[in-house]
Amino acid sequence: MLKKAFVKSYGCQMNAYDAARMADVLGAEGYAATDSPEDADIVVLNTCHIREKAAEKVYSELGRLRVLKGARQAQGLDTRIVVAGCVAQAEGAEIQARQPAVDVVVGPQSYHRLPDLLARSRERRVVDTEFPVEDKFDHLPRRRTPGSAAFLTVQEGCDKFCAFCVVPYTRGAEVSRPVAAVLAEAQALADAGVREITLIGQNVNAYHGAGDDGAPVGLAELVRLVARIPGIARIRYTTSHPNDFDDALIRAHAEIPALMPYLHLPVQSGSDRILGAMNRKHTGDQYRRLIERVRRARPDIALSSDFIVGFPGETDADFADTLRLVREIGFQSAFSFKYSPRPGTPAADRADPVPETVMAARLAELQALLDSQRYAYQRAAEGRVFDVLVEKPGRHPGQVAGKTPHLLAVQFDAAPHHIGSVVSVRIQRAGTNSLFGQLVSEAAAA
Ligand code: SAH
Ligand code: SF4
Ligand code: F3S
Repeated sequence: MLKKAFVKSYGCQMNAYDAARMADVLGAEGYAATDSPEDADIVVLNTCHIREKAAEKVYSELGRLRVLKGARQAQGLDTRIVVAGCVAQAEGAEIQARQPAVDVVVGPQSYHRLPDLLARSRERRVVDTEFPVEDKFDHLPRRRTPGSAAFLTVQEGCDKFCAFCVVPYTRGAEVSRPVAAVLAEAQALADAGVREITLIGQNVNAYHGAGDDGAPVGLAELVRLVARIPGIARIRYTTSHPNDFDDALIRAHAEIPALMPYLHLPVQSGSDRILGAMNRKHTGDQYRRLIERVRRARPDIALSSDFIVGFPGETDADFADTLRLVREIGFQSAFSFKYSPRPGTPAADRADPVPETVMAARLAELQALLDSQRYAYQRAAEGRVFDVLVEKPGRHPGQVAGKTPHLLAVQFDAAPHHIGSVVSVRIQRAGTNSLFGQLVSEAAAA
């Protein structure tokens, strides 16, 4: 009988990328991908540790999987349960202490060893949260069916140690993949029909991978090199950090047509006092000036960000500074979160937490403002014509779905053979989450 694997991602883009690569690893071992854990021989939860809610979700899911495993066992079927990702890295063997049904715990740097770990788990439970000397990327099989837009990890880890964040602990120190390795993967994606590549990393603009001569190459140059690959029409990158934004990357936005006019640049807060306490090492004004320079290079760039409300010690005045920054800059989209104390991080020890009710009220106010900006941005697209990369069938029969250069989702009537092409679409109406348009021409405008 065909063996099946269910792999679920709970986290950021890098977590989604890792999940896809784990599916590749299991695919090479003969496991077909399935969307339902009920008929899976292997279930992989690729977990996220960034906020308490994300981490706790895993345990309720594991509780359900334990029941499922028991039910399948009664039918003579084996189910291996794997916990991967950042909770695996942070909690290791504790996971199996809390949920004995878990067979394998594997960290984000060792999942290329999954076949071996699964084999060993038949004897006893296995934990592998090492940062191995070998590079996992050298041991991963070819990527399967990536679609027309794909993520490509170029940099991992973080040395910034923001006071609230677990990533430096779960992902380790900052490491960049060599240029040749990135280009080989990009070429393979292009060969598989990918038209858009998003270069990803926890701090992607800190990228400094070794070039052919061994000298470090920055993100701007890497974007230039990927743009030369035939078939690659669009390039994006995420997530970048304000302090690693160099002039070359700003210029790249002006000079490289394939580099899409969209920038996700987390700022977290608009208060200098809170930014200082967060160890972000920049002020609100430094962020504003950086955005001004990026906008001068690429006036139509769409901006996105991340915000945390209720960091310990945040006052009403601090929060007002955040609202002011949002009003002044204007974001196309943004993610905002209540501060969540994370074990092992410096901010978790602070004695001045913001009360839950205050956090909830601030989050609601910030989200209302961000929503109104997002909707205004969507409305401003009405009547305009955009190049759209068609990615998949739409919500309704006869429709397809794709993205504008500014990463707005568009639905329109067109035949499925357009999937994988960049076409020209006139926007007729803005919904809350998606634009609705009409195919203007089979060719892109530029
Ligand atoms: N490397 C990126 C972000 C990685 S985490 C950067 O530097 O911005 C993604 C987002 O999760 C962060 O930008 C932050 O807004 C949020 N986040 C991280 N830790 C958090 C915490 N303890 N509580 C609430 N939100 C958090
Ligand atoms: Fe976390 Fe800060 Fe590193 Fe981003 S830069 S991953 S928020 S420590
Ligand atoms: Fe979560 Fe780990 Fe990504 S903690 S946000 S999955 S790096």
